[in-house]
Amino acid sequence: MATMRQFRLAAHPRGRGLLDSDFELVTLVRPQPAQGEVLMKLRWLGFDPSQKGWMENYGGYVAPMHIGDVMRGTGIGEVVESRNPAIPVGTLLSGMTGWSEYLVSDGSGFIAAEPALPPTAMLSILGLTSLTAWHGLFEIGKPVAGDTVLVSGAAGATGSVVGQLARIAGCRIVGIAGGAEKCQWLTQVGGYDIALDYKAGDLKAQLRKALPKGANIVYDNVGGETLDAMLNVLADGARVVICGAISRYETGGKPQGPGNYFNLVFKRARMEGFILFDHEHRFADMRRRLTELAVAGRLSWQIDEQQGFENAPATLRRLFDGSNRGKQILKV
Ligand SMILES: NC(=O)c1ccc[n+]([C@@H]2O[C@H](COP(=O)([O-])OP(=O)(O)OC[C@H]3O[C@@H](n4cnc5c(N)ncnc54)[C@H](OP(=O)(O)O)[C@@H]3O)[C@@H](O)[C@H]2O)c1
Repeated sequence: MATMRQFRLAAHPRGRGLLDSDFELVTLVRPQPAQGEVLMKLRWLGFDPSQKGWMENYGGYVAPMHIGDVMRGTGIGEVVESRNPAIPVGTLLSGMTGWSEYLVSDGSGFIAAEPALPPTAMLSILGLTSLTAWHGLFEIGKPVAGDTVLVSGAAGATGSVVGQLARIAGCRIVGIAGGAEKCQWLTQVGGYDIALDYKAGDLKAQLRKALPKGANIVYDNVGGETLDAMLNVLADGARVVICGAISRYETGGKPQGPGNYFNLVFKRARMEGFILFDHEHRFADMRRRLTELAVAGRLSWQIDEQQGFENAPATLRRLFDGSNRGKQILKV
């Protein structure tokens, strides 16, 4: 009987970094598609920091993960057997595949790859991180031409798209990232006007120098000390978009709160968080507009492609030590 491998949750990584032992690699019999279903072979996996939050059951905004559950995540599968005439063999489908070498589905919740772009675009420039960038920037940040937009985690999958969309909206963009190489990418390829390296020290001083008139929009992917530093440089009426707090994983799992939140009062500013999944009804429209920009060559994106299904846990960890260069994916 044909077999396949699957990663399952073996422990909840609360208050600590990810370990190999948080995942169990099991071998099992490959499933058979029923009438109306297809069998997909996993081709790529996409990785998001929120996967660690899902493993911890942190936040309560998605169904809890239990020990033994298939590791949850996005991916692209190729249809290798079809009992659904609407989905022929060879179709590439993107969606919540989980970490499983094969899966059966009736296709609901999956979308076909965009033919005008490479298949991996479904996980990167057309994937959840770009939709996150779009929603947070346009629906909460509400950019106006001439605004200054400050982005943390700027070289990552979400941050790099936020900057480029803000630039298209006519804004000046300032990004914060870790290390000279990422900062160079931001200004040379990513379209950022200024890149600040938080690892080079005194971020508050760097921000004061780069933003003498303050930021009209702050788009935060990092939280903690970085958010605190950014709240020092608000312009009057600023909008602070709380997208993520990846630094919380360093502080035992809970985000460190901003010490100077009261600057929101002095600057008549607003701070708002969001969960992308609440806006699923708008995904198709956002994806269509991102596709137009990408096909027209108006967006650049970096893909960090690791290899081998068995390396999925190590690939997820790359997001938490900053090893990833752009959207983290894995070719299975
Ligand atoms: N609200 C939502 O619905 C929603 C949806 C999707 C994603 N998000 C959030 O968006 C953020 C970005 O996600 P992404 O998938 O685009 O990941 P990403 O930015 O491509 O990768 C994560 C980056 O975070 C930075 N980082 C890691 N640990 C850090 C720390 N302790 N302090 C500062 N920076 C750190 C690293 O960049 P450096 O090398 O520059 O440090 C790393 O490359 C995450 O916080 C994620 O949870 C939110």
